[in-house]
Amino acid sequence: MRHLLSPLDFSLEEVSHMLKLAQDIMRNPEKYSHVCDGKKLATLFYEPSTRTRLSFEAAMLNLGGKTLGFQSADSSSASKGESVADTIRVVSCYADICAMRHPKEGAPLVASHYSRIPVINAGDGGHNHPTQTFTDLLTILELKGRLDNMTIGLCGDLKFGRTVHSLINAMKRYPNVSFILISPEELKIPQYLRDELLSENYNFKEVSNLDDVMGELDILYMTRVQKERFFNEEEYIRLKNSFILDCKKLENAKKDMYILHPLPRVNEIAVEVDDDPRAAYFKQVQNGVYVRMALILILLGLDKGMLEQ
Ligand code: CP
Repeated sequence: MRHLLSPLDFSLEEVSHMLKLAQDIMRNPEKYSHVCDGKKLATLFYEPSTRTRLSFEAAMLNLGGKTLGFQSADSSSASKGESVADTIRVVSCYADICAMRHPKEGAPLVASHYSRIPVINAGDGGHNHPTQTFTDLLTILELKGRLDNMTIGLCGDLKFGRTVHSLINAMKRYPNVSFILISPEELKIPQYLRDELLSENYNFKEVSNLDDVMGELDILYMTRVQKERFFNEEEYIRLKNSFILDCKKLENAKKDMYILHPLPRVNEIAVEVDDDPRAAYFKQVQNGVYVRMALILILLGLDKGMLEQ
């Protein structure tokens, strides 16, 4: 049985297959509308979510399956002290596959050790968010026609932003990709990630000014300052508006530089940018459904032969 805990759990060939399947679903949705008839997806969300939970549910419904689950730890028996290990043993009796979001890094990994059904990490603390990353890859592939030979700027909260950590790990596997990491000093990438990039002689630089590097970027990945991960509210208030992307700042960007954001956004992208043809964050949201449909099929072993039909 297969789980998805990190974007690196899939080889490059498997990522390529998953993206092809997602593109086929995007172009031929009716072909997939009954593939999961009789199957159930459980969504176990110990942390708030709009996109990830609802897109998983939409994905299973689009495939003909059904969904069940909880939206917060408070509305589950976690509030009475039930462990993740016991919860997943129980949910394994009710569903065929599950997506779990948890504030603690590694909670979905623990669940996978006790589960009788595939576990998908839907975001664990500041660690990983593999299904968002695959959504980002599909969006970049659709917009640029490739995943190699590009410069990606990641801007904002690079310390706590799990989507950033997952995306760096996923994109560094493609040839000639370089990263420009744009953040205040306090929100730079974690040291373990910097050490990995350094030990691999990876092409990256860390800067604090977005304007200085805007013209170099093929993709600008904006992120929210992750209020929920701060221990000190004053520090959050001081840093929360470190970067605000507006139309003026985009004047120096390439005409084909696309703007991604995992959302939710707070202030870091001005609403006026939404009308710029390079704003791709709502396309990302739509792509998240296709990617999660593809992942459900792959993890349930229902993808075999679908691309040949
Ligand atoms: N991108 C993302 O994970 O959004 P939600 O927190 O709304 O699921």
